Amino acid sequence: MSSIRLDRYLADVHVGSRKEIREYIRDGRVRVGDEVVTRTETHVDTEEDRITLDGQLLAYSKYRYYMLHKPAGVVTATRDGLSRTVVELLKNVPVRGLSPVGRLDKDTEGLLLLTDDGALLHRLISPGYHVEKVYEAHLDEPVTDGMLQCLSEGVDIGDDTKTLPATAVRLAQDEEGRDVVELTIREGRFHQVKRMFHALGREVVFLKRVAFAGLVLDPNLKTGAYRTLSSAEITALKEVPDKSGETQKG
Ligand code: URA
Repeated sequence: MSSIRLDRYLADVHVGSRKEIREYIRDGRVRVGDEVVTRTETHVDTEEDRITLDGQLLAYSKYRYYMLHKPAGVVTATRDGLSRTVVELLKNVPVRGLSPVGRLDKDTEGLLLLTDDGALLHRLISPGYHVEKVYEAHLDEPVTDGMLQCLSEGVDIGDDTKTLPATAVRLAQDEEGRDVVELTIREGRFHQVKRMFHALGREVVFLKRVAFAGLVLDPNLKTGAYRTLSSAEITALKEVPDKSGETQKG
């Protein structure tokens, strides 16, 4: 059992500012079980009590989980002396303890998770889990079927081992007539996608991550925007399987 004040519960599930939360409670919009509770200091049990706001169930989580549509030009860090960081894009959010899950290059756009759930973060970036990351890579020169085959078999990018087999699918050309490849990788080596194409004689001119660990970039999130993850999305992330047994050397 974990007993906390009702206003603290609502703050922990991020339904509004402290002021808004006090108003929700005083206006009788919050129920504990079937009972309307109008005292902010009422204690509730985070595991047992069913708390609703306007009839919507508020599942308790002491951690925070955000999906950000990272723009280019922003660094994946919590602090940086020179450039704007991804954490600085989160407005009206208590950012203390939040960390990006993995890293996107400064010029890469797309899906980036941020959380203060250290255990989950650790698993998602752990090499053993082979979490899937899907990128759309726009290339400087046309890509051949042979190159797609090489990507799918693993590429020597100058490390001790070749990259693990990736899934490479040709997409429609972009507006500038450049070839675009959807590449799914299961590792997170430094500049991996750019280095994989470079090893094949192609340069990535634009890179966007469109999915991570089964989560797809929300099409409603404009570049630079973010949202909290739903309970279902958090549960799915926590169930990402450990695939370390499938590691191949090459
Ligand atoms: N691979 C890269 O080269 N850059 C990224 O930002 C992510 C993957």
